[in-house]
Amino acid sequence: MTGKILRGRTLSFLSEPVLGSESDSYVYEEDGAVHVDDGIIKATGSYADVKLNALDNIEVVDHRPYILIAGFIDPHLHFPQVQIIGSYAPDLLTWLNTYTFVEEQKFGSTEHGARIASVFFDELIKHGTTTAAAYCSVHKQSAEVFFAESHRRNMLMIGGKVMMDRNAPVGLLDTPQSGYDDTKALIETWHGTGRQHYAISPRFAITSTPAQMEMSGALAQEHPECFVQTHLSENANEIALACELFPQCKDYTDIYAQYGLLGPKSLFGHSIHLSDREIAAMSESGSVAVFCPTSNLFLGSGLFNFEKLRNGKHPVRIGVATDIGGGTSYSMLKTLDEAFKVMQLQGQRLTPVYSFYQTTLGNACALGLEDRIGNLSPGSDADILVLDANATSAMSLRMETVSTLEEELFVMQTLGDDRTVAEVYIAGEASKPGA
Ligand code: GUN
Ligand code: ZN
Repeated sequence: MTGKILRGRTLSFLSEPVLGSESDSYVYEEDGAVHVDDGIIKATGSYADVKLNALDNIEVVDHRPYILIAGFIDPHLHFPQVQIIGSYAPDLLTWLNTYTFVEEQKFGSTEHGARIASVFFDELIKHGTTTAAAYCSVHKQSAEVFFAESHRRNMLMIGGKVMMDRNAPVGLLDTPQSGYDDTKALIETWHGTGRQHYAISPRFAITSTPAQMEMSGALAQEHPECFVQTHLSENANEIALACELFPQCKDYTDIYAQYGLLGPKSLFGHSIHLSDREIAAMSESGSVAVFCPTSNLFLGSGLFNFEKLRNGKHPVRIGVATDIGGGTSYSMLKTLDEAFKVMQLQGQRLTPVYSFYQTTLGNACALGLEDRIGNLSPGSDADILVLDANATSAMSLRMETVSTLEEELFVMQTLGDDRTVAEVYIAGEASKPGA
């Protein structure tokens, strides 16, 4: 075998952690190694075993004492919003109308889109995010530049142009037919090209007419291989308006259900204020609720009820995501830190082990991509992070009192950011800008 061996403290999840026996959910090797070759993980285990089974002269990259873990996964963010992060507004709909719908019009320019795509992927990689599910703007060319840049970097990305044909400026509107045609063409070009996946993306019920919702349902039916991504139940005014626009539907979730948009490949950003009936519908359909803590706090949208959705009567699959640019950080570490606090406020527990599970294997499972990404098992894609819990002086000082792996993970989550990510391997290639 050729390729190279990465040596470090390996941490790889096997299953969802269960309180009381969390250590059964992962494998940790103090002197571990990952053998990567041709973009794939060939072997993981103790350094001694992995080295013994490789060629004598194989290259060894020594990352000790850092942790090697699967790349972080961000299952909901907006590529055209990177220049409006932290825009001051009282609530979601004001924020959308004042900043977002103005900013996204710039993506009619391929040149602008290409420039932002390049810096966007640099930021994701710097922060350790190797896979994301991204909304592009309404413009077909915004998705073209997104996928072209991702493909050039050999990243596993999910993306889609948003479809929106009402309640937004003219410069951001498509039509049911053009949204359908552009989506079809993008699927044809990009879904399955290298590591690219397409997400059929009706932005949310408020910006799509019933005719466009029908077209979205048709696309989902014609392309079961693709994801569906949209927004659901984020804010009180948004919910009221959505229900007013679709009076024949029982509630917000039922709008998507009536157009055939629920299902195991459907990602519903926010899902904060769901009724028991809606939770049951999400659960039965295998749909995914995506928790976006920094965004939900920033826009004052509400507290996601993780415990009820995950472990209630009707369990729902969950992802945790940044929601850039309603979200305020690219960092999945910071995002988990805020998730922890949102859960604290509700008397719920997010343990450090569960956090690191969630942002790797948990989010991979939410995307149904756990056979490709999210852990260090042989056969997985070699998207691997090198994490340094002593990355800053404040972290180093804190680390002086740390004695367990769990504590170390919690320090990285609470005090960490892009500096904690020492290196990022994408399909086996060292890729952190400036590292
Ligand atoms: N709902 C519809 N569009 C958006 C968006 O861009 N961001 C957020 N947070 N919610 C939305
Ligand atoms: Zn969003």
